[in-house]
Amino acid sequence: MTIAFVSSSSAIAIDPDLPLLLEAAGRRDLRAELAVWDDPGVDWSSYDAVVVRSCWDYIGRREEFLRWAATVPQLHNSGAILTWSTDKTYLQQLEASGIPIIETRWDVAPGDDLGDHAEWVVKPTISAGSRDTARWETAEEAWEHSAALVAAGRTSMTQPYIASVDDEGETAMLYFSGTFSHAIRKGPLLERGEGVRQDRDSRETISPRVPSPEQRDLAERTIDAARTAMGLPSAPLYARVDLVTAPNGSPLVIELELAEPSLFLPQSHGGEDRLIDAVLARIAP
Ligand SMILES: Nc1ncnc2c1ncn2[C@@H]1O[C@H](COP(=O)(O)OP(=O)(O)O)[C@@H](O)[C@H]1O
Ligand SMILES: [Mg+2]
Repeated sequence: MTIAFVSSSSAIAIDPDLPLLLEAAGRRDLRAELAVWDDPGVDWSSYDAVVVRSCWDYIGRREEFLRWAATVPQLHNSGAILTWSTDKTYLQQLEASGIPIIETRWDVAPGDDLGDHAEWVVKPTISAGSRDTARWETAEEAWEHSAALVAAGRTSMTQPYIASVDDEGETAMLYFSGTFSHAIRKGPLLERGEGVRQDRDSRETISPRVPSPEQRDLAERTIDAARTAMGLPSAPLYARVDLVTAPNGSPLVIELELAEPSLFLPQSHGGEDRLIDAVLARIAP
C-alpha cells in the first residue's frame, strides 16, 4: 500500500509534520511519498490514499486547487470538504447549528454598527496565515479595511478582538477520524497598531496544552456539526478546531481547519502514529 502526503513546492522542505509522517508510515511497513499538488508529473491514481497536508500556496489559486482536488481519487480530506473549509462563511452554518463562534459581522460598510468593543479584527473569509488580517482600535479603520476587502471582490469578517488571546493564546485541538489526538497553545499573532501584514508566519509560538472538558466538548460538537452540514457519513480524516476564550470564560470557535492545517506533530506524543492508523483504517483491505 502506498500513501502520498501532499504539500506545495514552497512548503515541502519546511513543513515539520512531514518527516514524522514518513517515519510513522515506515514503522507500519507502508510506502509513503511526498508530492506537490501542482506537479503535473504525479499519477495520483497510483496511491491507495492521498492525504492533503501543506498545500499552503492555494491562497490566490483556490479555484485551481479545488479543480485539482476534484480529479484525485482517494483524497483525504475530500474535495468537497476542502471547498467547504477554505471559506470561513462555514462559520455561519456552524452558528446556525448552535456552535458558539466569535461575534461576526459580514461585509460591513462605513457607518455600520460594529458593536461596543475596544478593538476589532477585520479579515477576509478566504485566507490563511493571518494574511490580509488586522487588529484595529478605531471603527474608522475597521470600516475602511472591510470596505477595501469588499471592493477587491472578497467577503470580509469583522469581529471584536478577543482580549484573552494576548495571554492565553488559542487552543488548537487535533482530531483524526473524529478521535482526539492532541492539543496545542498558539500564541497571539496580531500586534496592536501594525495594520495589515502578510509576514506573520514566523511569529507562531506553539506549546503542548491539555484542553479542558468544556473545550473538548465544544470541539467534538463542532466537528459533528460540520459533518452534518456537509452531509458526510463520518468525521473527516483530520480536523483542527481552534478555540479562543470569550470574556465570560466560555470557549468560542475561531476556525475549523479541514483543509491544510498544521498538525503540530512535533508537539504531540505519537500524533503521527494515530494519523497513520486513521489512514490505514480508510484503505480498503
Ligand atoms: N477575533 C479575534 N480576536 C483575537 N485574535 C484574532 C481574532 N481573529 C483572528 N485573530 C488572530 O489572527 C490569527 C488569524 O486568524 P484566523 O481567523 O485564525 O485565520 P487564519 O488562521 O485562517 O489566517 C489568529 O490565529 C489570531 O491570532
Ligand atoms: Mg487560524
